[in-house]
Amino acid sequence: MRSSNSARLVAIATAAAVGLAVALGSGLGSPASAADPANLTGVILGVGSNESQRIVTWYSSADTAQQVQLAPTASVVNGEFPADAVTFAATGAANIATSGGFNRHATITGLKENARYSYRVGTEGNWSPVYAFKTQDFEGDYDFLFYGDPQIGSSGDLAKDQAGWQDTLDVSLAANPNAELLVSGGDQVETANTETQWDAFLGSDKLRQYPWAATIGNHDVGGKAYEQHLFTPNTDRSAALYANGQPTSNTSGGDYWYIYKDTLFIDLNSNSYATAQGGGGDEAHLAYVTSVINQHKADAKWTVLVYHHSIYSPADHAKDGDNKVRRVDFPTTFSKLGVDLVLQGHDHSYSRSYEIKNGAKANPAEQPGAADVYPGPGGVIYVTGNSASGSKYYDITAPDASGTSGAGNGADPLNPNSYWYNSVQNQEHVRSYVKVEVRNDKLVVTNLRSGTCAAPNAAVELGKSPCANTSEAQPVGSIVDKVTVHPYHADGQDIQVNVPTGAPGEFGWTIDGYNGLVDLGTATDHGDFFAAAGKINPIVVSDSRRSQAPWSISASASDFKDGDKGFSGSYLGWTPQVIADGAGALPAAQVSSAYDDNGQGLSVSRGLGWAAQGHPKGTAKLGADLDLKVPGSVDKGSYRTTLTITALSS
Ligand SMILES: [Fe+2]
Repeated sequence: MRSSNSARLVAIATAAAVGLAVALGSGLGSPASAADPANLTGVILGVGSNESQRIVTWYSSADTAQQVQLAPTASVVNGEFPADAVTFAATGAANIATSGGFNRHATITGLKENARYSYRVGTEGNWSPVYAFKTQDFEGDYDFLFYGDPQIGSSGDLAKDQAGWQDTLDVSLAANPNAELLVSGGDQVETANTETQWDAFLGSDKLRQYPWAATIGNHDVGGKAYEQHLFTPNTDRSAALYANGQPTSNTSGGDYWYIYKDTLFIDLNSNSYATAQGGGGDEAHLAYVTSVINQHKADAKWTVLVYHHSIYSPADHAKDGDNKVRRVDFPTTFSKLGVDLVLQGHDHSYSRSYEIKNGAKANPAEQPGAADVYPGPGGVIYVTGNSASGSKYYDITAPDASGTSGAGNGADPLNPNSYWYNSVQNQEHVRSYVKVEVRNDKLVVTNLRSGTCAAPNAAVELGKSPCANTSEAQPVGSIVDKVTVHPYHADGQDIQVNVPTGAPGEFGWTIDGYNGLVDLGTATDHGDFFAAAGKINPIVVSDSRRSQAPWSISASASDFKDGDKGFSGSYLGWTPQVIADGAGALPAAQVSSAYDDNGQGLSVSRGLGWAAQGHPKGTAKLGADLDLKVPGSVDKGSYRTTLTITALSS
């Protein structure tokens, strides 16, 4: 279509990506041995490699063969498991340098969605109590909760720390009973190998009902108890990912990843940050993150990083030398890799960063506390969790003159009491947790109070921190901060948004407003086929050329993909419209789904709108109703395609 009949003619082709999404609806182990005398303790449900797995970890007083036994809850009657209950063999080893005994873990696989399961650990004749968990839809929206530094034992009063921790779990899960993951910000306990602290940390049955995604903190690293209690999936235990470079020493470490419902989580051992410590430092973490994202990003729509040492924190640790190292080492790679959200702990206070790109505030105009943020390419939001247990709070510290990028701790020009990197900082000496709502086209991050000044609130009760909140003004469940993160779609990996200048005497086009995901929702099942509908993000065309030369806008859709599943873009059709007249715009012809006419649908370039030679100058807005019909044989999934838009003028 490119004109070639005259040197005067100029062909302009620009392209942009518009994401479209649509959701479609549509064993095991060895038997137990004889009874044994093992005392089974510390059972915890952990995340698996994906939403169809869980890992159960526990301690055993005896070195015997053990299992996890699993059955649908409805088939467990009076604590009796049915004959067809399945078992998953456990592995483990002797505990190192703790109170003795052995550790065991087993991976439950093959879970079905929207199911309730009961499980117990041990062996025939010597089972633990029965615990239960549920699965939910394996596709689509979900919520997870993030908890900063329980650090049980930190206040010096174990019972008070445990009470606060249990209360935060109770309050947060009463408010969010359908939350699907409990994500750790690290520092489960105060003293790495003190088993009484682990017992207190593990005291709540909520940790046997919802999967815990462990994160290692500086208080967990000095022993093997962390690894012995919290077995994690896909864990790289190479020497480079241990602070001292010695995985077999009495220390914990390693990085791990998992994919949960289209979110790729990567969890790092941030205790290791410099090669001088003996391990691979930050360089090894960056190599790990890069490798995992390159291998698995196609299977996920979101990337969330989790590690303990907050690099953009507001309190006692904000100016720590080690954090300044990480603050220089990490951000550019995270921006380059398209990380969406980073969850951190260590500073026992809440913060939410501005959109950070390559270690600097990406948009100087971003206002403190903005309710909606629209990170551009490379924009990353960093969140720091406050104490979830109340065992210890750190107070917010003042900026200095060390600058407003990189390792600097200078003041925010828009909010001089705050650090340059933070949009929100908060410390009231009240327990809180972070809720993350994962939606098709946004992440909603909310920090909520799980306590008041009142007990359980160990640091306040013990007079270590005067409470700055009041139960009357800020009740349990009230919101400290809430932000909606709108992702950037055309991320430049294969298609750039080329926004024309719109200067006088030019032809140009742009996507109208924010280029949000075109969400076709959940397709309706018509038996032989699934159907879904929606509208493209409108496209504004402006043409002020004297030549009154013709123009056209067209587009094509790639295949719809969900991991290794997919279907052709030909099943997408549309009906173009001129939403706002101008520039002589006319709608192009309707295109049917290949399901209806065996044609090529939008899998090949199709017109959206056009104008003939001699059209008036002006601006038009073009839209289209999308019509998706796919065969009923297509697998259930949450599929996405990219609509590539091309403009031609001469
Ligand atoms: Fe810490």
